[in-house]
Amino acid sequence: MSRRRRIYEGKAKTLFEGPEPGTIVQYFKDDATAFNNQKKGTITGKGVINNRISEFLMTKLGEIGVPTHFIRRLNMREQLIRQVEIIPLEVVVRNVAAGSFAKRFGLEEGTQLPRSIMEFFYKNDTLGDPMVTEEHITAFGWASPQDLDDIVALTLRINDFLFGLFLGCGIKLIDFKIEFGRLYEDDMVRIVLADEISPDSCRLWDLRTNEKLDKDRFRRDLGKVEEAYQEVARRLGILIDQGPGDVRGPTTLQ
Ligand SMILES: Nc1ncnc2c1ncn2[C@@H]1O[C@H](COP(=O)(O)OP(=O)(O)O)[C@@H](O)[C@H]1O
Ligand SMILES: [Mg+2]
Repeated sequence: MSRRRRIYEGKAKTLFEGPEPGTIVQYFKDDATAFNNQKKGTITGKGVINNRISEFLMTKLGEIGVPTHFIRRLNMREQLIRQVEIIPLEVVVRNVAAGSFAKRFGLEEGTQLPRSIMEFFYKNDTLGDPMVTEEHITAFGWASPQDLDDIVALTLRINDFLFGLFLGCGIKLIDFKIEFGRLYEDDMVRIVLADEISPDSCRLWDLRTNEKLDKDRFRRDLGKVEEAYQEVARRLGILIDQGPGDVRGPTTLQ
């Protein structure tokens, strides 16, 4: 790992040059941040679990025809992905009011929305990821109208699929954030799903009890953060092997 060239050090992941041109190794850290970097901490074993959960969800999405950057998982904390030109947008889908959305509209957390609502945020830490509209996105050239059409269509399919998948394991998908990128392949450009899908980027509530099984446990100091991430992995039926040389392996064997 140390011999590879580091391309980017993010808040939750590190990107290394991959073995072939156009590939990247995405390393999942235990670091956690919230509220635009004001709160920092670590969640032991998070990187291992998120690597597996993101692998699982991206693979499933690939199976229904959603193009993704995912190639294969390499080990406990790393996955091989296709390098894309990241579109600087955080695409958020809300099924139920929570977090900043509930606050913004004076809604009680947990209020069912009349329909799924998609929002865009400009991915820029210095500016605090401001919310933007399609006007801003196309005017500033972050994405073309055609790119946006693809992003919207893919995002709706992703929401429908993930909502059903989680429901089947007793979890309500409250909201989530995804990122897309442009993949350049044989003189072609396609929009593909990139980054990660994990309890860091989704709100996941237990269907019966509404217990939070996601990063809100960290944001709000609710405790049992690692356990919640493990519970999500367990319910998805993901078996986490205890490899040597890493943190105590999450005990989600089933
Ligand atoms: N396939 C990809 N190709 C290039 N960059 C990617 C790809 N997937 C994700 N990224 C970028 O890599 C970074 C992942 O690390 P992360 O810790 O999430 O960073 P950040 O602090 O910027 O959110 C993000 O900036 C994300 O946009
Ligand atoms: Mg990120």
